[in-house]
Amino acid sequence: MSKSDKSKPVYTKPTTKEKFELLKQKNEEALLGGGEARIKQQHDKGKLTARERIDLLMDEGSFEEIGKFVMHRAKDFGLDKQHYPGDGVVTGYGTINGRVVYVFSQDFTVFGGSLSETHAEKIVKIMDLAMKNGAPVIGLNDSGGARIQEGVVSLGGYADIFYRNVRASGVVPQISAIMGPCAGGAVYSPAITDFIMMVENTSYMFVTGPNVVKTVTQEDVTSEELGGASTHSTKSGVTHFSCANELEAINNIKTLLKYIPQNCEDNPPSLPYELKEDESRKALNELVPDNPNQPYDMREVIEGTVDEGSFFEVHKNYAENIVVGFAHLAGRSIGVVGNQPASLAGVLDNEASKKGARFVRFCDSFNIPLLVFEDVPGFLPGTDQEWNGIISNGAKLLYAFSEATVPRVTVITRKAYGGAYDVMNSKHIGADMNYAWPTAEIAVMGAKGAAEIIFRKEIAAADDKQAKLDEKVEEYTEKFANPYRAAHRGYVDEVIMPENTRLKLIRAFKMLENKVDTLPKKKHGNIPL
Ligand code: HXC
Repeated sequence: MSKSDKSKPVYTKPTTKEKFELLKQKNEEALLGGGEARIKQQHDKGKLTARERIDLLMDEGSFEEIGKFVMHRAKDFGLDKQHYPGDGVVTGYGTINGRVVYVFSQDFTVFGGSLSETHAEKIVKIMDLAMKNGAPVIGLNDSGGARIQEGVVSLGGYADIFYRNVRASGVVPQISAIMGPCAGGAVYSPAITDFIMMVENTSYMFVTGPNVVKTVTQEDVTSEELGGASTHSTKSGVTHFSCANELEAINNIKTLLKYIPQNCEDNPPSLPYELKEDESRKALNELVPDNPNQPYDMREVIEGTVDEGSFFEVHKNYAENIVVGFAHLAGRSIGVVGNQPASLAGVLDNEASKKGARFVRFCDSFNIPLLVFEDVPGFLPGTDQEWNGIISNGAKLLYAFSEATVPRVTVITRKAYGGAYDVMNSKHIGADMNYAWPTAEIAVMGAKGAAEIIFRKEIAAADDKQAKLDEKVEEYTEKFANPYRAAHRGYVDEVIMPENTRLKLIRAFKMLENKVDTLPKKKHGNIPL
């Protein structure tokens, strides 16, 4: 034996037991992500780890991880000496309420959850599986953005995800929870998904952060003010749910999934329901006040009609003049849209139109029937509205209802005025059943405005102008402030007592459950964006 051979370490083939031990060690190492110290830092910030979030989200013991040992391939800036199994994202599949979902959960303890080429590949892999197998994708986001040391391959990774987000849109439901930073171009993946949850005080989303804002616009703003949960749930409408903590965000995801199907060819899950002998709801008779200018809460109408406790409101704090959410009606999932007289008299403005349109399109994409409660005085006038595009925004809502092929039913509780009458799921734009309460007023505009225009000359010529105006307002009110003109024409199928609404709706949706309606052949429509 030569001298050099002696110094060579001797390789001893591991035993099977040792190989099993090695796997155990590697698994344990992977579970630690960026290590104990970083896990503690994460907890100290009031945040859970990527794996703790998955444990809370999925049915116990159901999560199967994919790519636990994936490592990045980067070499620059010392990365060749830093490797963490999983590379900053935990991916896999499991069940929620017994139904399969795919999930990725970014691990902030590894390079700040930043997205590398391989991190992106892991996300892409589960998105592709979700598409092939027709199941929702849930993303738990907590990331410093593109892995800065990797440069363009990281940007490419983002684009690979964005592309799949778009391809998956309308095919499988996509839900995002923002549980930490989400900045720069990274925001565009959640933005394309169907629903976003944000956690108050620990998450933020912005295209450019406070420092860049300060440099470019001289504005001083904190991360929370610029892109926190409260900002995005009230001002921008980017997030659908502002959650007090991570557990609330996770519970909201689980609740949401109860109303929506696995994919666009599936039907939403339904609950067993036996029709009761008496489905009347007497309390509904008491809701609309005598004075048409007095508000009431449309939520009480919705909650008083649908299965008890089933209304799950979406986008609650944004554009409060329209209420949207999911509910069960005799155990079946429906999407509910209601004008809200308790906020801005229920008027349609830019934000309400966009909010309503997006919700209607989600429901239609995923075979969720639509129920509309209407009390709308019209579109909001003013330069602010016009300059911010009420024409194209209002058109979005009109377009969304018109193209929806799911069963569609409307109940006019009070006002249905002007263009808003047409837009809010009228018979003319394809609603299947339209009901009105005896309190409905269906006209081109309110009686006072109408009288002032059409009787202008008569009023001007009268000795007592106010008396003349009052007389004409009364005349117009008598003629139009009721549902019967529309009912004579068949624009309203039936005028019903409020207390009978629930039973009528249960029957109508049952009658419509096998509805088939198709759009003319086209590549895709061109909704006024
Ligand atoms: C690599 C990153 C990183 C990133 C954070 N880290 N972000 N590593 N790439 N993008 C690392 C940090 O260096 C640190 O490592 C660890 O993660 C934790 O970060 P901290 O800064 O200690 O945490 P915190 O104080 O909570 O601050 C979080 C943060 C900050 C606000 C996210 O880390 C930050 O500003 N990161 C950079 C954000 C950014 O500019 N990203 C690129 C955006 S552009 P050590 O080892 O020191 O503990 C983008 C383009 C996407 O994303 C385009 C798509 C089209």
